[in-house]
Amino acid sequence: MSERFSIGQLADLPDGAGVRVEAFEHRIAVFRIGDDVYAIGDRCSHAEASLAEGELFDKDVECPRHGSAFNVETGEPDSFPATRPVPVYTTEVADGEVFLTIEEAS
Ligand code: FES
Repeated sequence: MSERFSIGQLADLPDGAGVRVEAFEHRIAVFRIGDDVYAIGDRCSHAEASLAEGELFDKDVECPRHGSAFNVETGEPDSFPATRPVPVYTTEVADGEVFLTIEEAS
């Protein structure tokens, strides 16, 4: 089962920064990079800091607590101390509106 929902207009998202979205019991970090939108789990896999509050460097977001960098396309950390990926969510921009999809294991 999956849930697809709108989070608003692309133009309202800050370019090059994160926004936290909570929906269907998921805490999601959404990043706009130009016309592209990426969404990963907001809780860092190391100690649950909010990745939406991290700083973006290209397509990596740096965890604000201990500095692990997570790729916003793959959810994979590419530096310690985090070693496990965070979830990745499907994003879509249609007519300027941004949609996320949460896939639930059935
Ligand atoms: S909480 Fe993110 S690296 Fe430790």
